[in-house]
Amino acid sequence: MNILIIGSGGRESAFAWKIAQSNQISQLYIAPGNAGTGQYGQNVPLEVTDFDGIADFVLQNDIDMVLVGPEEPLVKGIHDFFLDRDDLKNIPVIGPQQKGAQLEGSKDFAKQFMVRHGIPTASSQSFDKATLAEGLAYLETQKLPIVLKADGLAAGKGVLICTTLEEAKAELQAMLAEGKFGEASSKVVIEEYLSGIELSVFVLTDGDSYKVLPSAKDYKRIGEGDTGLNTGGMGSVSPVPFADDEFLNEVEQRIIMPTINGLKEDGIPYKGFIFIGLMNVEGKPYVIEYNVRMGDPETESVLPRIESDLVDLLQGIAQGNLVDRSFTLSPKTAATVVLVSGGYPEAYESGKTISNTENVKDSIVFHAGTREENGVVNTAGGRVLAVTALKDTLFDALQQATADAGRIYFEGKYFRKDIGFDLI
Ligand code: AMP
Ligand code: GLY
Repeated sequence: MNILIIGSGGRESAFAWKIAQSNQISQLYIAPGNAGTGQYGQNVPLEVTDFDGIADFVLQNDIDMVLVGPEEPLVKGIHDFFLDRDDLKNIPVIGPQQKGAQLEGSKDFAKQFMVRHGIPTASSQSFDKATLAEGLAYLETQKLPIVLKADGLAAGKGVLICTTLEEAKAELQAMLAEGKFGEASSKVVIEEYLSGIELSVFVLTDGDSYKVLPSAKDYKRIGEGDTGLNTGGMGSVSPVPFADDEFLNEVEQRIIMPTINGLKEDGIPYKGFIFIGLMNVEGKPYVIEYNVRMGDPETESVLPRIESDLVDLLQGIAQGNLVDRSFTLSPKTAATVVLVSGGYPEAYESGKTISNTENVKDSIVFHAGTREENGVVNTAGGRVLAVTALKDTLFDALQQATADAGRIYFEGKYFRKDIGFDLI
């Protein structure tokens, strides 16, 4: 079969790497891909929201399945676009329709969904411009710190943790009245602050049954010791040592099953990945957020642990018989270290030549923000490469990935040398 992957980051590189190993694949395409994805398939110069261009490509190249990596095309309705067209509706899209994508596209929708279905999450209330005064009054009744979340997609920047009432009030005002995050903050969720350790679980569903994929922990802050600005993710490990069977069983009973059943009860069809961001508060899981895709860089740690054919699971989603599929998992630990451009997540330069990746022998180098220019591979984004090692122990995986991250060179390169060591 022929598969088209939509996206261009480290996550899509990991998908391409894994899918290319399947013996069910004839042609693999990645749109638009990056300088690394070309080794697993063929890059196609199409933007992820160019639905007409994607449709033409799919029809001209006999694509049998479309796997959507990032949230933006899902929230903008790529799956609905396929279902609405007679010539495309039979080509399966892995990723939810617009309605299900609201779990990520609207924090208010996600909160209402969780409350409706009794899924443990921080208590919250939502406000818009018309109810700004009520919002400011509500803040006075809440404990500090307090969390303000822009309702819509804000490129990972829409969550503010405020430690004083003055700051919280000023930020609420800026978000609702001054459009701090544009349209995304026309509504704001004010949420109780949860104190604990974060981790993520990944679920694959055909809308009826589900499979729980390996859990992972990502490291969002730019600085060592979890300091500084938030990023898309600086590294990840899988499995997560503190997520033992008892905890994961609780996650399945109290969160995953009610989520899948809730989608069914609400009449929301869902074929794709659900990424559940969790806070472990004294051993009890609470949902921090839903994403309607896999995580990045979590995918780079999760997929190398899946030993069996991922395409088999994807077929199960497409055909609605996921219940009959199974997968096998490596007991090893995967650790991923992300190499970023100097300055990221603020302003950074691109176009720096990357060298020495060929000297990495014991890790997988997944490309993220890279571009081939005149035969050389240059940096082309904030997060440039993700280096993943799979070893018998967490310590060995971390040592290997961190050492290999150090072997690669480009001007301004930065990476955290402490990813995962807090878990040892
Ligand atoms: P999100 O964009 O929802 O993933 O939020 C970004 C980050 O903000 C999360 O990864 C958490 O570290 C933090 N965060 C979000 N909600 C809460 C909360 N209720 N309590 C504590 N931290 C939170
Ligand atoms: N690593 C977090 C995310 O993919 O949203």
